[in-house]
Amino acid sequence: MRRPRFIAEQARDARGPVGRLIAFIMARETWAQNIRAIEALDVDGTDTILDVGCGHGRSLATLAARAPNGRVAGVDPSELMVEIAIERNRALVKAGQVDVVVAGVEALPFPDGAFDKALCVHVVYFWSDLDAALREIARVLKPGGALALLFRTNADAAAVRSFPAEVYSFPAFDEVVAALGRAGLAVGADEFNGAPVLLLATKRSGS
Ligand SMILES: C[S@@+](CC[C@H](N)C(=O)[O-])C[C@H]1O[C@@H](n2cnc3c(N)ncnc32)[C@H](O)[C@@H]1O
Repeated sequence: MRRPRFIAEQARDARGPVGRLIAFIMARETWAQNIRAIEALDVDGTDTILDVGCGHGRSLATLAARAPNGRVAGVDPSELMVEIAIERNRALVKAGQVDVVVAGVEALPFPDGAFDKALCVHVVYFWSDLDAALREIARVLKPGGALALLFRTNADAAAVRSFPAEVYSFPAFDEVVAALGRAGLAVGADEFNGAPVLLLATKRSGS
């Protein structure tokens, strides 16, 4: 069934009581794919990890549990999503292990090379400039750092049918792989798999 535009808009920019409900549903709908992407990151106990477009913040606790001696940050441009993510992870935020900040991929509020790993699940559809977004993620990764990028492509007919094109822009697979390359992120040839697609990309040294 095609999602009504006002619901799709809440996934891009959640607000108010409807946004809170969408966050609740989203945390369940996307969970299996978040676990898939987190597994691909092969988190080490001391890793510093960024979740770009963390939404409701369910992934942050899992990342923190896998990196007990590291640090986890989530960013999302929706103030409501950040509020929900902080509520969900209150103890970890208080302990200083998790931080959640209002920010979009366009300007990540972190220095160059701040993170060992980055996670980004079902967010690319909302980026106006794919190249700039991936360059910004690459900037905050350490050389050798890894990005797990999970998304549906424009070849996924069911997704294209279900989500309004005015809100969701599904990229072509090749377009994303090429943009990753231009951003200095190398994709392993055997990582192309499944629907949604999960790409594991590593920041090249010297990028
Ligand atoms: C479909 S939700 C996915 C949330 C979470 N990653 C998950 O897997 O459940 C998309 C999220 O991307 C966020 N978002 C929208 N535009 C963004 C941007 N330019 N940069 C970063 N996040 C963005 C939205 O606020 C929303 O929380």
